[in-house]
Amino acid sequence: MSKIREIVARLDIPVIVAPMFLVSNPAMTLAACGEGIMGSFPAHGTRSTEQFEAWLIEMREGLAKQRDAGGKPAPWAVNLVVHSSNPRMQGDLELCVKYEVPVILTSKGAPGDVFKAIHDYGGVTLHDIASQRHAEKAIEAGTDGVIAVAGGAGGHTGTINPFALVNEVRQIWDGVIVLAGGMTTGRDVLATQAMGADLAYIGTRFIATTEAMASDGHKAMIVDSKATDVFFSAAIDGAPANWLTKSLIAAGVDLDVLRTTLPGKIVAAGESRKRWKDIWTAGHGVGNIASVLGTAELCRQLKTEYAAARRAIAPLAVAG
Ligand SMILES: Cc1cc2nc3c(=O)[nH]c(=O)nc-3n(C[C@H](O)[C@H](O)[C@H](O)COP(=O)(O)O)c2cc1C
Repeated sequence: MSKIREIVARLDIPVIVAPMFLVSNPAMTLAACGEGIMGSFPAHGTRSTEQFEAWLIEMREGLAKQRDAGGKPAPWAVNLVVHSSNPRMQGDLELCVKYEVPVILTSKGAPGDVFKAIHDYGGVTLHDIASQRHAEKAIEAGTDGVIAVAGGAGGHTGTINPFALVNEVRQIWDGVIVLAGGMTTGRDVLATQAMGADLAYIGTRFIATTEAMASDGHKAMIVDSKATDVFFSAAIDGAPANWLTKSLIAAGVDLDVLRTTLPGKIVAAGESRKRWKDIWTAGHGVGNIASVLGTAELCRQLKTEYAAARRAIAPLAVAG
């Protein structure tokens, strides 16, 4: 069995808590791993390479504590922007090598030398893609698996329907596919497997957790929003993303101007970090998020729902 397949087999259910800028942190990641679900955070979610190292140390110590208490924590992951435009890439990558982070979630570009550096210490890579062409490039460069970011995902999103995207990627790849976009329940996780993907990548649902670093306002807006309150635009930070409409209005963004802005042009003022702090992102799954839970409790809920969904479809599986 390939290393990535072995890692997937070690999870209680096939879920990765997706990395989220200004939201994910070691506390959330450790809580998920303690429940047998892969947790993650983005390296760029820290203010500096020094702070990133502090988070890696927190992970190492937290996981050791779980093991000392008899637990079997799930493998964890870090998101790295592997593009030359990221000035921290080299330093952050060196730390991932030093701390032997088991899974690296890579986004932008798909440089083979980065994948090689990760493979050399025994790590595996899952690379973000939003089309069959992106997948082709990442596979050629040597990734161990792809993260298919479909339409409706929180943060920077794809635009292709999840069925269409998984089918196109499956035409060229029999390895691991992680599917992202709009999932909030254990039933959704089982559905990703029925569609031909291997794992679900869930972000937005985990913003509404006690450990998440998101502001209380962001969490409350997620609980109060429906899918129709999510606004797609490439004009807030230059990349296609889904934003909570109420937060755009509160930040004084004119939605009509946004609607008519050409792709790539940026409407919202201020530096990028501030934009993500004041203008909140979320995926289409918001309408199914009714409360803020502890991360461990949410993971247990997903596992219970997943088991119930498997039982519910068992008659369908034998009916054919
Ligand atoms: C608040 C927020 C911040 C995000 N930040 C990142 C990030 O830093 N790096 C990244 O690769 N993806 C990021 N994403 C995308 C997620 O990793 C994932 O693709 C997405 O949340 C999945 O869709 P869902 O939110 O509908 O579950 C972010 C998503 C959200 C909601």
